[in-house]
Amino acid sequence: MNISKDIKYIGVDDHITDLFEGQYEVPLGMAYNSYLITDERPAVTDSVEEKFVGEWLGNLEKALDGRTPAYLVVHHMEPDHSAGIAAFMEKYPKAVMAASPKAFAMLKNFYGKAYEDRRIEVSDGFELSLGKHTLRFFTAPMVHWPEVVMSYDEADRVLFSADAFGKFGANDTEDPEGWACEARRYYFGIVGKYGPQVQNLLSKLKGLDIQAICPLHGPVLTEDLAYYLGIYDTWSSYGVESEGVFIAYTSVYGHTKEAAEKLAELLEKKGCPKVAVSDLAREDMFEAVEDAFRHSKLVLATTTYNADIFPFMKTFIQALTERNYQKRTVAFIENGSWAPMAAKTMKAMFEKSKEISFAENTVTITSALSEKSSAQLEALADELCR
Ligand code: FEO
Repeated sequence: MNISKDIKYIGVDDHITDLFEGQYEVPLGMAYNSYLITDERPAVTDSVEEKFVGEWLGNLEKALDGRTPAYLVVHHMEPDHSAGIAAFMEKYPKAVMAASPKAFAMLKNFYGKAYEDRRIEVSDGFELSLGKHTLRFFTAPMVHWPEVVMSYDEADRVLFSADAFGKFGANDTEDPEGWACEARRYYFGIVGKYGPQVQNLLSKLKGLDIQAICPLHGPVLTEDLAYYLGIYDTWSSYGVESEGVFIAYTSVYGHTKEAAEKLAELLEKKGCPKVAVSDLAREDMFEAVEDAFRHSKLVLATTTYNADIFPFMKTFIQALTERNYQKRTVAFIENGSWAPMAAKTMKAMFEKSKEISFAENTVTITSALSEKSSAQLEALADELCR
């Protein structure tokens, strides 16, 4: 695949890994992107995950068509992109690696070698001339690790964006839901906590004339780039993408589920903008995390359990708060057969969260829905629809 006359895609698709980064399900596989910039001094950007290093080197050799690479540019040191560095440096002994000083320190820690005599350390504004093409670097700490740099090729107006603008899913597999769904799950799962750092990055990108974004995962983006930049702005500023209510529940015997579904029904009947419901024990946890960040209002329904709350709900709230969940309205439905205390416990978990407003109405179920708790559901639906 050619990105431009001189830039070729040499990445790989992964249909072997079950859990990306040890926790994210990837039913559509995963792509590790790498690119070759052909010029007087050819440059390769990043490598791939360990299992695919042989395939990547084969792709590179074919794309090089007899040339020898002068540089390996490493934008990000996480092993899904750095596992092939040693094999590359061994295969091309004259090549020099360009990366941030922090990346070289990580390289030594991960792989025991740091190529002191074959390295160029890059920083904000550093320019690497390849001939016709010049890569201008800028740092992007915590998008997704502290050592990350991105680069911009002035000649073809291409941005090499590291993990940013990436998504789950292999490039050889069509995503029936388009780009946004798996890009959102990827964004909030992986860099959701680092909104301010992504905002910094977006301000650095302002003023660049970008014609293509080449991320380390997912498709190369070439059209409607304002959409992708705009949605990253919404996500990283914790803005609301979709007005509506997301109801996340856990249920032991089905009574809390019944309440969650009844609330959804009431909200729909009252013409609430958009309602989504998720069973946290059965559905993908990070799908639920992205839905919570996507919508303006969140309802959490769970049971008191071991004088705490049901485990899946605890994990879910932790996944939200550790990602700096904020600027949302949160409501609670609690269930407890003898001493319901789930609402209080859930609320306490948001103690350190910024700009969370709690609904005035809380629903308390004692075992199963009653006339009293049904009336509370009705009142909560009214409040959420206001
Ligand atoms: Fe794709 Fe942060 O590694």
